[in-house]
Amino acid sequence: MTRTGAFIEFRSLAKIFSDHRGRRTPVVEPLSLTVAEGEFVVFVGPSGCGKTTVMRLVGGLETPTSGEVLIKGRKVEGPSREKGMVFQSYSSFPWLTVFGNVRFGLKYRRDLPPAEKDRIARRYLDLVGLTAFADFYISRISGGMRQRVAIARTLAADPLVLLMDEPFGALDALTRERLQLQLLQLRNAEGKTVIFVTHDVDEAVFLADRIIVFSARPARVLRDVRVSEVLPRDRTMEVMETAPFRKLRREVLALIRDEETRTEAGTTEANF
Ligand SMILES: Nc1ncnc2c1ncn2[C@@H]1O[C@H](COP(=O)(O)OP(=O)(O)OP(=O)(O)O)[C@@H](O)[C@H]1O
Ligand SMILES: [Mg+2]
Repeated sequence: MTRTGAFIEFRSLAKIFSDHRGRRTPVVEPLSLTVAEGEFVVFVGPSGCGKTTVMRLVGGLETPTSGEVLIKGRKVEGPSREKGMVFQSYSSFPWLTVFGNVRFGLKYRRDLPPAEKDRIARRYLDLVGLTAFADFYISRISGGMRQRVAIARTLAADPLVLLMDEPFGALDALTRERLQLQLLQLRNAEGKTVIFVTHDVDEAVFLADRIIVFSARPARVLRDVRVSEVLPRDRTMEVMETAPFRKLRREVLALIRDEETRTEAGTTEANF
């Protein structure tokens, strides 16, 4: 066990992919970072910089080339129930109904009686606005709805850490706004620790306690923006109209834009 007090700790985490010809592509530079319990951390950065790879490393879906990730002092060595993952290419079980899919997230909660599991599943279904579709099979609902099912299922499983990689990317603006608010409420009510990836800078500033801005590949931390020092923890959409919000948004956008321009301008070899 570590005694650093960090909930999630990245210790010199690095990832190099090698192809069949032995060509090596460094995707994550040795990355050291700590995330506190209950913190909402958003990763942003140029496309292809390595964000998904970092998320997969935290989720235990990828093995580091060197370094490690610790969650509550324990080294991540594979996927586990304590890590709830929602990725952009969401998955649902086509042979189950919408309700069945969400209920499936509670499969391993042997501590709960069936009626309680039903109640929790209904609660999360309601949270993502799909109560009316509870008995529909997955094949009969839209892509955005399937994504909401996947989100509800992950939340219902009550993981220690939520890892969300562009989870709202494919949703319409209103649903997206609703889920952003609900996710913040959930975090505030249940103190969940969240790592969230997005390309949408408004979404990043709205949700984050902290924004980690990554460089172009290989990903390293360009800036650690402490949003919670500037914006209140309880937020409504109105916060987006405030001067501090707009200032943060400009700052983060400028960092990403400069980074994209810098890599486009010179170092093509870094991209191919
Ligand atoms: N399994 C793999 N083998 C080889 N290269 C990979 C593998 N997975 C990812 N990469 C490469 O690693 C780099 C980073 O990919 P990653 O998906 O982590 O980026 P990202 O920041 O999530 O991008 P985006 O913003 O577009 O989602 C890319 O160049 C990608 O081609
Ligand atoms: Mg990605």
